[in-house]
Amino acid sequence: MHKKLYRLTYILPVVLILAFTSEKQDAETSEMNRFIDKLMEEMTLEEKIGQLTLFTSDMDHTGPFMREHYLDDIQSGRVGAIFNAYTAEYTRELQRMAVEETRLGIPLLFGYDVIHGHRTIFPIPLGETATWDMEAIQESARIAALEATAEGLHWTFSPMIDVTRDPRWGRIAESSGEDPFLTAQVARAKVRGYQGDNLKDLHTMLATAKHFAAYGAPQAGRDYHTVDMSELVLRNKFLPPFKAIIEEDIATFMTAFNDMFGVPATGSEYLLKQVLREEWGFEGFVVTDYTSINEMVPHGFARDNKHAGELAMNAGVDMDMQGAVYNDYLAELVAEGKVSERTIDQAVRRILIMKYKLGLFEDPYRYSDPQRKAELVMTEENLEFARDFSRKSIVLLKNDDNVLPLSDDVRSIALIGPMGDNQRDLIGSWSAAGDYTRSVTLRQGIINRQGDRTRINYTLGTTVLEEDRSGFPAALRAAAQSDVVIMALGEHYWQSGEAASRSSIDLPGLQEELFDEIVKLGKPVIVVLMKGRPLTLENVDEKASAILETWYLGTTTGDAITDVLFGDYNPSGKLPVTYPRNVGQIPIFYNARNTGRPESDSKFTSKYLDVSNSPLYPFGYGLSYTNFDYSDIRLNTSEIPMNGTLTASVTITNTGDRFGEEVVQLYTRQLVGSITRPLKELKGFEKIALEPGESKEVTFELTWKDLAFYNAKNLFRAEPGEFHLFIGTSSEDVKQTTFTLLE
Ligand code: NOJ
Repeated sequence: MHKKLYRLTYILPVVLILAFTSEKQDAETSEMNRFIDKLMEEMTLEEKIGQLTLFTSDMDHTGPFMREHYLDDIQSGRVGAIFNAYTAEYTRELQRMAVEETRLGIPLLFGYDVIHGHRTIFPIPLGETATWDMEAIQESARIAALEATAEGLHWTFSPMIDVTRDPRWGRIAESSGEDPFLTAQVARAKVRGYQGDNLKDLHTMLATAKHFAAYGAPQAGRDYHTVDMSELVLRNKFLPPFKAIIEEDIATFMTAFNDMFGVPATGSEYLLKQVLREEWGFEGFVVTDYTSINEMVPHGFARDNKHAGELAMNAGVDMDMQGAVYNDYLAELVAEGKVSERTIDQAVRRILIMKYKLGLFEDPYRYSDPQRKAELVMTEENLEFARDFSRKSIVLLKNDDNVLPLSDDVRSIALIGPMGDNQRDLIGSWSAAGDYTRSVTLRQGIINRQGDRTRINYTLGTTVLEEDRSGFPAALRAAAQSDVVIMALGEHYWQSGEAASRSSIDLPGLQEELFDEIVKLGKPVIVVLMKGRPLTLENVDEKASAILETWYLGTTTGDAITDVLFGDYNPSGKLPVTYPRNVGQIPIFYNARNTGRPESDSKFTSKYLDVSNSPLYPFGYGLSYTNFDYSDIRLNTSEIPMNGTLTASVTITNTGDRFGEEVVQLYTRQLVGSITRPLKELKGFEKIALEPGESKEVTFELTWKDLAFYNAKNLFRAEPGEFHLFIGTSSEDVKQTTFTLLE
C-alpha cells in the first residue's frame, strides 16, 4: 500500500473514533449539567447545605466527636454523605431513608477509610511503597475498591500522600515515605486502581488526595502540630504528589488539620483557591478532615464556629466532615451576606456531579447488593494476590553469611517474641473492615509450609507494652534447644497511625533487652520486624545475623514472611524512607542540601559530636539473596539542549545463582542553582526481574521537566548547568556520571 494512503486509512478511523468519543462525552456532560441544573433549581438553601455535610455513622469511630442523631439528619435531608458505614444491608437502609424519606430523595454518598485494603488487608502504605511496584500497587487499590464497593461504599479517603521525613510521626505508616517523586508515582497508581476508567463502573470508587497540605511535617513529629516551612520547600518537596494526582482526575481532596504559614489548611485560600483551583485546575470537591473547620477556633484563627464556617466556605471548602458547622451556620451566614449563595451552589454542584458520575441518580442502591459481597470479597484470588504483594513489600536489611534463606530441612526453630503468633497487630491501623482473626501469624505461616518437618519452639518472651521479664527464661531455653532462632519483634498496632506519635522510636518494652540476652547464646539470630515506622535499630543491626523489615503485612502476613524466610520468594523491597541511627538525627532524609560546611574530619563542619551524619539504612536500600552487578552509565550525549532528551542506560546482571528482582534507581544532582539544590533527587526507577546469569539493559529518559524545580520566584524552571547523574541499587550505592543542560 502507498505509504500516505496507508497512513490515511490508519489515522482516519482513529480520528473518527476520537471525534465520536469526545462528541459522546460532550453530550453526556450536557445531559448531566441539565439534570443537575434542574435539581438545584428545586433545592432550598437548607437542602443545599445538607449536601455539603458529611457525618459519621456509629458503626466505627475515627475521631473525637460523635453525632448521635445522624439518622434524623439523614431523614430530614440535613446530610449529603455518611462515612464509617458499610455492608450492603446497612448502606441500603441508610440510603432508603435518604431516598424515600426526604423531599427530593437525593442519594447519600458513602465514604470510608479504605486505606490498605477493605476486607482483604494488604501491607500498610509504607510497606506497599517498599515494593516499588506500581502495577501491584494499582492492583491492590483495584481489589480494595472491588471489595469496598461490594459493601455499599462509593468513596475512599485514600491515598494519603503526605511526604514525611519524621518517623516519630505515627502517620508515617500511612504514607509513602520521604520522597516526592516516589510518593507521586504511588499516588497515581492508587488513584488509577480505585477510580478505574469510569466511575460508573460498579467496581470503582472516588479517591481522595489527603491531607492538603504538608500534614506530614509537624514540628517535632507530634501529630496535628504546627507546620512551618518555606514556600520553596513546600512546592518542591511536599506539593508535587498532590499536583501529580490531578492528572489522574482524582475526585476529591481532603484538607489537613495543621496550620501552615500561620493559616489552618482548612481556611487557606492560598492552598484551596490559588494553588488547587487556579494553578492546578482541580475540578472535584474538597472535604475537610474530621471537625477541622471547628478546630480553626482553638488554632486561634476563627472567633467561633460560625466564623470558622465563613472562613472555610470562602476559602473553598465544599464539604464539612463531622463538624456540623455548615449545617448550623451557613444559612445565617448567607442571610448576613458573609457567604454568597453562588459559592454554596458551586460546592453543591461539585458534590452532585460526583453522585451523578457514580450513577446514584439512576439507581441509588446499585452498590448495596448483598449478593456482590459473597462473590467479590476475600476471594481466593484476592488472598493470593495479597500474599504475593505482601512478600514484595519485605525488605531484607541484613543477611550475614547468607544465613537466609533457611533450608527446607531445618529441624527446629525457636520463634520468640510478641509478634510471633499475634494476629491483631498484623493488619495495622486503618484496617478498614479487615477481620484480624483471618490474619495468618508467622507461626502459622511456618507451620503451613513446614508441617511436621520442623519443630517450632514458640514462646512469647515478653510483650510489646509491658516491662515483663517473666518470659525470658523460657525464651532462652527455646533458643538453646533450637537450630535456628527467629525473633519477631515490633510495635503494637496502635503505636502508629493517627494520634500515635512517639518521642522515642526504640523497640518498645523490653524487647531489645530480650534480644540482647538471646544473642549472648552465640547462635545466629534472625530478626523479623513488624511495625509502622522506622525504628532506631543500631544495636539490633550490630548483633543480629539477618533482619527482615516486614512492616504490617496484612491478612497473609505469616505466609508471605515464610515465603521469604525459606527462599520461595527472593526479597526485592527497598526502603521508601531513611532509617536514623538515633532519634536526635531526625529529620534525616537523603535529598538534603549540602550546607556550606559539609561533614568532614575538621571541627567546624555540620555534624554531631556523638553520631555521624550517615543513616543506619539509606533511602532505597534493600538486599537480595542474589547479587546484581551494575555496568557504567551510558548517556546519549553529555550536553543536552533545553528542549532535548537525555537517555541514560545501564546494564544489570544477576551474578548470583537465584532468580531475583531489582529496583534500579536514578538520581540527579544539579551542582549549582539559583537556589541551593539537593545532594540527590530520585528522578526515575524501574523494577526488573533477572534469572541467574541474565543481563538487562535499563534506559531512562529525562527532559527539562524532570530537572526543573520551583525557584525563588515560585516559577517551575530548569536551569542550565552541570549535573551529576547516578544510577544504582540504593540512594547511596550508585554509579555516577555527569552531563550539562544547555541554555
Ligand atoms: C481523620 C484522619 O486524619 C483522616 O485521614 C481520615 O480520613 C478521617 N479522620 C476520617 O476517618
